[in-house]
Amino acid sequence: MTDLRHPIFARLYPRLDAATAKAGGSEHRAELLAEASGRVLEVGAGYGANFAHYPPEVTEVVAVEPEPRLRARAAALAARAPVPVTVRPGVAEDLDADDASFDVAVASLVLCSVRDPVRALAELRRVLRPGGELRYYEHVRGSTPGKVRFQRWTDVVWPYLAGGCHVSRRTDEWIAGSGFTVRTERRFEFPDTRGNPASPHVIGIAVRD
Ligand SMILES: C[S@@+](CC[C@H](N)C(=O)[O-])C[C@H]1O[C@@H](n2cnc3c(N)ncnc32)[C@H](O)[C@@H]1O
Repeated sequence: MTDLRHPIFARLYPRLDAATAKAGGSEHRAELLAEASGRVLEVGAGYGANFAHYPPEVTEVVAVEPEPRLRARAAALAARAPVPVTVRPGVAEDLDADDASFDVAVASLVLCSVRDPVRALAELRRVLRPGGELRYYEHVRGSTPGKVRFQRWTDVVWPYLAGGCHVSRRTDEWIAGSGFTVRTERRFEFPDTRGNPASPHVIGIAVRD
């Protein structure tokens, strides 16, 4: 099953993300993809917000997106992307791709939403060549007990409102424990409001062992 339908979220997300882009999200996407090169797999590409940020050294992007409405929006943006982008249905936990067939895998704001993030990371590792890069931009579990408590309570309802997103996931720790060596990671609060459960964020590059 490669279609996951979240019709209300799919209508709202591009608008919400446009506001986030103005607040700094656009720069984060550029940072995520700076100096990426070769063949790229992007999972959960959404409406294609990253496409405009791929540098010319990227030879091809295969973008997997399970939500049909977002996938259609992504296909439209793919046609205007600066590098060749193909948009396909699919889920990160079960990728239709050969072992070691990509130089770079990209996960942005998606490991919060997949049903099984550890399995998704195993799949991303499988399709990356040894030495290939996992580039990630994710919101993660907070670092104080109060914040974690707030995030856990938020996660009782948040996934129903935000297309399956969870705010208390330890995604950064799971990446480090999934057969990758973290080369760079920057952790920061974003947006800069204390009451936001979907913060802190990390932007990083982890290399497939
Ligand atoms: C918050 S959106 C982020 C979209 C995009 N990556 C971005 O940076 O704007 C989360 C995305 O994850 C996708 N998603 C949910 N479950 C997924 C799964 N199991 N495999 C791949 N993508 C998934 C959703 O359809 C949605 O496009």
